[in-house]
Amino acid sequence: MSVHVLEHPLAAHILTHLRDKTTKPATFRTLAYQLSLLLAIEATRDIEVETKMIETPLEPMESHVLAHQPLVVVPILRAGLGMVQPFTDIFPDVSVGYVGLERDHETAQARSYYCKLPPLAGRHVFIVDPMLATGGSAVQALTVVKQHGATDARLVCIVSAPEGVADVEKYHPGTTIHTAALDRELNVRKYILPGLGDFGDRLYGT
Ligand code: PRP
Ligand code: URA
Repeated sequence: MSVHVLEHPLAAHILTHLRDKTTKPATFRTLAYQLSLLLAIEATRDIEVETKMIETPLEPMESHVLAHQPLVVVPILRAGLGMVQPFTDIFPDVSVGYVGLERDHETAQARSYYCKLPPLAGRHVFIVDPMLATGGSAVQALTVVKQHGATDARLVCIVSAPEGVADVEKYHPGTTIHTAALDRELNVRKYILPGLGDFGDRLYGT
């Protein structure tokens, strides 16, 4: 299991304001965009490049461009939608797939209600979901993308709980997780502590 916690003063600053319960949805959405952009850059650190000859105004040089291997970003609806735009802004050829999962408020079990995915074989797949709590949603999403041909699927989260990380490792060993924070634990209602509350509700003002 490979868990990468984003270490950057700006990420810490943004996350503090996301956690703050007085932050309003409009600001929350902006902060979610900014932190997801930092995570998108970090999670794509190892994607392939190829060489390209160019001429600067002063001389020719061999430089690098991204290799033609379109990426796929897969938000887990609904909260994951708040993390998509950074990927589409910086990777113009990215494809977007959708997995709709909703946790039952009583049991915290995730129920699938939607799935629309492009071909995934041979592509880097980034499953984005701000909260990795019990891990149930992430495990289901990983299962679905693998059923659709993904062999390189990573998770990109904002706040993760140790329980969720362990669940992903149990059912999908070796999965890489990029997260802005690894929090303490879940409460009895399976919310992350200290966490930031219900991300979807705070993002959409519901
Ligand atoms: C939240 C969150 C994750 C899930 C994490 O979504 O966005 O998808 O819970 O919890 P888990 O790790 O225990 O599965 P939720 O089901 O509340 O739906 P929403 O995105 O529509 O708000
Ligand atoms: N989903 C959320 O939005 N927040 C949590 O703390 C757990 C699951």
